Amino acid sequence: MSIDLQFDHDHIWHPYTSLAKPLPVYPVTSAHGCQLQLENGQHLIDGTASWWSAVHGYNHPVLNSAVTTQLAKMSHVMFGGITHQPAVDLAKQLCKMLPAGLDRVFFADSGSIAVEVALKMALQYRLSQGQQGKTRILSLQKAYHGDTFAAMSVCDPDDGMHQIFTSQLIPQIFAPAPISRFSGPWLESDEQALRALFRQHHTEIAAMIVEPILQGAGGMRMYHPTYLRLCRQLCDEFDVLLIADEIATGFGRTGKLFACEHANITPDIICLGKALSGGYITLAATVCNQKVADGIAKGQAPALMHGPTFMANPLACAVALASTQLIANGAWQQQVAAIEQQLKTQLAALQPLCNVVDVRVLGAVGVVELSANIDVALAQRHFVELGVWIRPFGRLLYIMPPFIISEAELAKLTDALYQVCQMPISQQAAALPGA
Ligand SMILES: Cc1ncc(COP(=O)(O)O)c(C=O)c1O
Repeated sequence: MSIDLQFDHDHIWHPYTSLAKPLPVYPVTSAHGCQLQLENGQHLIDGTASWWSAVHGYNHPVLNSAVTTQLAKMSHVMFGGITHQPAVDLAKQLCKMLPAGLDRVFFADSGSIAVEVALKMALQYRLSQGQQGKTRILSLQKAYHGDTFAAMSVCDPDDGMHQIFTSQLIPQIFAPAPISRFSGPWLESDEQALRALFRQHHTEIAAMIVEPILQGAGGMRMYHPTYLRLCRQLCDEFDVLLIADEIATGFGRTGKLFACEHANITPDIICLGKALSGGYITLAATVCNQKVADGIAKGQAPALMHGPTFMANPLACAVALASTQLIANGAWQQQVAAIEQQLKTQLAALQPLCNVVDVRVLGAVGVVELSANIDVALAQRHFVELGVWIRPFGRLLYIMPPFIISEAELAKLTDALYQVCQMPISQQAAALPGA
């Protein structure tokens, strides 16, 4: 029986789409390695790793086995008053992998919830210190931290995807997005703007939240490591907690195990998700240091006030343990370095195209910024015809493939980017008759 696309069209919301005028969806029936198989039998090379998560590829035997072995024991049990081996083993593994000092683990059920929990930790820490005035969060313009309400409050308020909710959100403080590029010169103006905000507002700020080195869904911007070091310095100087949202960047994506390592800094709280479970099941974690955990514990309400029903789901923890063990074996380092090299070489050919404003690469992330907004449905149709899965947003075409991608598969992705960039895919161009 084929997938009922009409029912899907009429009744099911897909991410960031309208039910009245939904974007087309492509029915996928299976996935192996770096390839998605469509219902019509066509194979597509996946350039997205299912939004950063499937770093080991699909249908990985080790991850499959972790799920099925755990399934035979128990798929779920509540975490209130109960613990289990997968949760304890995964927490131990994370403490081993994370920068020293980050060793108090809260399991959350999605990236957005991990951010909610990080913000809650910071606010509860301040309350327990008797710092009732420190209630606001410092974030960056162009930031993206998730879709729930507190997470939305720290996303770019002017240019982000949650703009229409701005008047309903907790008003936070925003610094200009860093201008100094990852491998360009360090610009002092970045320091001046951030320092001025700390000076002016530090008595109100509980914590600063950043996506280290790579601002993702807010624009795929790769910024200078000095900026991240500066965030750490200013947080220390002005008694502000530093939250690193490594939900997209964690587990090797930028060429370091955690993007914070580019600047050699350790945050007070880190958020993990996406690749944590190898893209198998939703799971996230918020991990803090002893200072934050002890601070909360000494408060009037010493318990951290959060506890979702599916907290530390055993299936999710088991597959995340297997995924993080694969990462810990270290093969990702060579894989990501090879992807970075190939992306740098092959995407350079796109830079001279007249509609290409910028090409940037960091680790296993390649970004092509165009001069105009892209017609997503049209561009995706072209990509599918070329046998690849790439999902544009705004003016950006970008790929972050599974780390196991072969040279030939990656070449097919970069070639498709080259071809599609030369087609009339901008929203204006697509609106022209016959385009
Ligand atoms: C940096 C960052 N934080 C948080 C999130 C939210 O994660 P989730 O979609 O799992 O809620 C995302 C998702 O794209 C992200 O990139």
